Amino acid sequence: MDLLALILAAGKGKRMKSKYPKVIHKVLEKPMLSWIMDKLENIGINDSIVVLGYGKEYILEIMPNLNYAIQNELNGTGGAVKFASQKIENSNKNDVIILYGDVPLIEEKTIKNFYGFHKENKNDITVAYMELSDPYGYGRMVLRGSQLLKIVEESDASEEEKKINKVNSGIMIFKRQLLVKYVDMLKNDNNQGEYYLTDTIELANKENKKVGIFKIEKDEVVGANTRKQLYELNKLARKKINDRLMDKGVSLIDPESTYIGPDVEIGKDTIVGPNVHIYGKTKIGEDCFIGENSHILETAIGNGVKIKTSYIEYSTIKDNVSIGPFARIRMNALLENGVRIGNFVEVKKSHLKERATSLHLAYLGDADIGKKVNIGAGSITCNYDGVHKHKTIIEDHAFIGTNNSLIAPIKIGRWAVTAAGTAVNKDVPDYSLVLRKGELVFFKDWAKEKFKIKEDKDAK
Ligand code: UD1
Ligand code: CA
Repeated sequence: MDLLALILAAGKGKRMKSKYPKVIHKVLEKPMLSWIMDKLENIGINDSIVVLGYGKEYILEIMPNLNYAIQNELNGTGGAVKFASQKIENSNKNDVIILYGDVPLIEEKTIKNFYGFHKENKNDITVAYMELSDPYGYGRMVLRGSQLLKIVEESDASEEEKKINKVNSGIMIFKRQLLVKYVDMLKNDNNQGEYYLTDTIELANKENKKVGIFKIEKDEVVGANTRKQLYELNKLARKKINDRLMDKGVSLIDPESTYIGPDVEIGKDTIVGPNVHIYGKTKIGEDCFIGENSHILETAIGNGVKIKTSYIEYSTIKDNVSIGPFARIRMNALLENGVRIGNFVEVKKSHLKERATSLHLAYLGDADIGKKVNIGAGSITCNYDGVHKHKTIIEDHAFIGTNNSLIAPIKIGRWAVTAAGTAVNKDVPDYSLVLRKGELVFFKDWAKEKFKIKEDKDAK
């Protein structure tokens, strides 16, 4: 697209009462600024300048690849553009779209339609506005018919102007050359002593430029100035996402308590239970069941997977796997088709091949576990010696008895069997049984003396 994006994000967001800049506060676990940057990329706007100011180091830490300009002095939206002027001049795009870093819910198709409208009408400037029953706080659109004469800010508006309910959304498109020119001409002789970007409208009208207006739905341009508004934004985003998923054939048992991020994909006939949280670029296939209270982040999940009340992060789960209740899967775990993970099992950075099972109380870390291997209850890979992590390899069909300690580095061969309660610290050859032989030693009547039992009254 022949369009440069300029994202204003220098403000502190005083009313958030935060040490962090407003734009990295999250909506559905995604920073507001990232919502915007991803949307621009999705619709092919690759050229952007973000105006940073307050707390820029926090922003650059999570988004190190931003092309940015720094606004040293927070002197208004026009001031913000001024600080980016040099960079804007250097761009080779014809038009510039202005967006706000704290207005994340604008739809991709709205940005496209807005730009299409601007081009079609051969406008010099187009302002996106919305209609509000309570316009308090916003810049009012002073119109004659459909012609925008000027935008008046709340603090400078007359009583008559305050009644106008068409307000500036803040999103505007300018011919690039004109933006630089008019921003340079702005004055700050208003009640806030700021350079208002909105004053460019009057400047353009004086030169008979073509200024157009474009209506936008208010739900798309709500911002977050306070924590309460951030919560409202979350609710709005959540409802949109959940509705869209249901429309696509996903069942949400209780959408009111279902939290799904904007980059999550879920296939049809999958059922998502109450109080489930799914975030990041998680992809879930068809016919899955994600039971109540599960938490899933950055994970690829195949078809027919059943997850009950479990915590899963940065992993890959293939088809027909079952997990939980109360399992934890993390750090690049890979569970192949038909693997079964039961209650209180933790899998870290391990690869479980087809139909391997670990159904109760186990820790599998840095392990490579073969097909149809069975891990008994209470067995642990001892992967850490206090300094280094070591690998456990368990080959196909091996049977690990209950309560084993597999002291890594170690390899358990094909079809090998380890007896219950074994601390295995040597490789086990294929097809072998291993047990630790240490006879049990009995001390007769030891307890009688210890507990001074003369007569054991309730003995049968
Ligand atoms: C602005 C508009 C107003 C519009 C409203 C919509 C102006 C003068 N006013 O008002 O017409 O109805 O948005 O929400 O443009 N920012 C900077 N540097 C600054 C000041 C602001 O980068 O010096 C950024 C903020 O981080 C924010 C955006 O610009 O992302 C808007 O700033 P804000 O102070 O909220 O503008 P409003 O006064 O609400
Ligand atoms: Ca604002």
